[in-house]
Amino acid sequence: MNEQNLIAVIADEVKGKLGGEGSGHDWWHIYRVWKMAQHIGREEKADMFVVELAALLHDIADWKFHGGDDTVGPRVAGEMLVAHKVAPEIIERVQKIISEISFKGAGVKTEASTLEGKVVQDADRLDAIGAIGIARAFAYGGHKGRLLYDPAVKPSMHRTKESYSKSENPTINHFYEKLLLLKDRLNTKSAQAIASRRHEFMEEYLDRFYKEWDGIL
Ligand code: ADP
Ligand code: NI
Repeated sequence: MNEQNLIAVIADEVKGKLGGEGSGHDWWHIYRVWKMAQHIGREEKADMFVVELAALLHDIADWKFHGGDDTVGPRVAGEMLVAHKVAPEIIERVQKIISEISFKGAGVKTEASTLEGKVVQDADRLDAIGAIGIARAFAYGGHKGRLLYDPAVKPSMHRTKESYSKSENPTINHFYEKLLLLKDRLNTKSAQAIASRRHEFMEEYLDRFYKEWDGIL
């Protein structure tokens, strides 16, 4: 199978698996990250075969939904690629990207070590900010049964992956614990350019949220 056909087949398999997911990791998240990774990857002159496979497979089995086990994602992705006889060298590169991609708390370093990893991480993070990022945060919060906001609960800058994943803070806190931090943690210039308007929009959104909370707007 040539590279383009393989990408189409993997996209179909991922769509089949994640079609009805309700926490913000559904197929359309994957689709947006895939398209954004194509855009950033071309600008950054990355190896597009690896970028596209990693973008499609990056959330195939998220550690947050497997008891914190972050080996499941790379393993499941690896099994899918082995089944299509993808070269072991490519599989390893894709697995490394998936193992390094996710945000694990404000105080935890999560640096992607390859150009292709930086591209896919940026594409994934852009989908966590702006109008869509806001929608995904509240979808995730609803899925987990969290409050929208509680003025008594202050944001916490999690220093470990464990404390980050155990946090039951209201969804508004997630803006301070992750979303507003992302623009300064992007790897590529192409992603930084897109992030700045999305970031501003979140700030405006929060401003209105508090005004409406206080009944003054
Ligand atoms: P990504 O797929 O961008 O790596 P995650 O898997 O960490 O993101 O989370 C999926 C979506 O749910 C993201 O938009 C993220 O910001 C949001 N999310 C993750 N944790 C929380 C939380 N504790 N509260 C609200 N939203 C969250
Ligand atoms: Ni993702």
